[in-house]
Amino acid sequence: MQASAVEIRKVNKYYGPFHALKDVDLSIPPGKVTCLIGPSGSGKSTLLRCINFLEEYDSGEIRIDGQLIGYESPGRKMSGRKLREMRRSIGMVFQQFNLWPHMTAKENVAEGLIRVRGLSKAEAETRAAEALTKVGLADKMGNHPSRLSGGQQQRVAIARAIAMEPRLMLFDEPTSALDPELVGEVLNVMKTLASEGMTMVVVTHEMGFAAHVADQVAFMEKGELVGVDSPDRILHHPEDPRIQGFLRTYHERNSF
Ligand SMILES: Nc1ncnc2c1ncn2[C@@H]1O[C@H](COP(=O)(O)OP(=O)(O)O)[C@@H](O)[C@H]1O
Ligand SMILES: [Mg+2]
Repeated sequence: MQASAVEIRKVNKYYGPFHALKDVDLSIPPGKVTCLIGPSGSGKSTLLRCINFLEEYDSGEIRIDGQLIGYESPGRKMSGRKLREMRRSIGMVFQQFNLWPHMTAKENVAEGLIRVRGLSKAEAETRAAEALTKVGLADKMGNHPSRLSGGQQQRVAIARAIAMEPRLMLFDEPTSALDPELVGEVLNVMKTLASEGMTMVVVTHEMGFAAHVADQVAFMEKGELVGVDSPDRILHHPEDPRIQGFLRTYHERNSF
């Protein structure tokens, strides 16, 4: 696995008149975990979705391993074919698991390998079994999503992404839809991926994960990237009053 790096330079994004991303600069180092935190509505999902061009940015540049994504050159859109090719190296996991209800766990993972990668059914199922074993679901491969817990369904979604052998993984609040007791099993799978050197960008409200697993933490507010630094400096010694305020509210809500 060769790790990927992302360079985000002066990115701006508008939804109509609304300025959702304001001159965002961020470097995502290869083989490291970057956590993106900040209040709801600050632009975290928008930024994450710009990285694989699920969301179009209006100006600035996003480069994956030096290659501009979405545009051939500033202002000139990339062809659909080329964009799909670039996206192949990027895996994404959402808050909602988006599994096919009529397929087993193994079929859910194998589907993309057959359709997108053109693997034979047998090859795809072998690879799907490997990916599911990796996320601790070797004994659940034949289950349909309705017979899996939320945590297990999210681990199937992670297996589906890693089976495609991405060089970069994007996570958008992967544990937010889960009951609290199921959060840990998903975070543990993510920790294992991180320890294997996967480049990861993780939008999360799990401050423990950000503190202990991230190599860097970026804080966003109102479309601005306010600060990016080590977890210790952002989460324990923040200088910006906006970060201090956010953490104060977070700790008030999470203490009892
Ligand atoms: N498709 C859209 N159309 C219009 N406004 C949007 C759209 N998506 C997001 N927004 C707005 O952009 C802002 C940032 O949203 P988002 O990136 O989802 O924030 P976060 O993930 O940090 O909660 C919010 O104010 C949101 O309402
Ligand atoms: Mg979001």
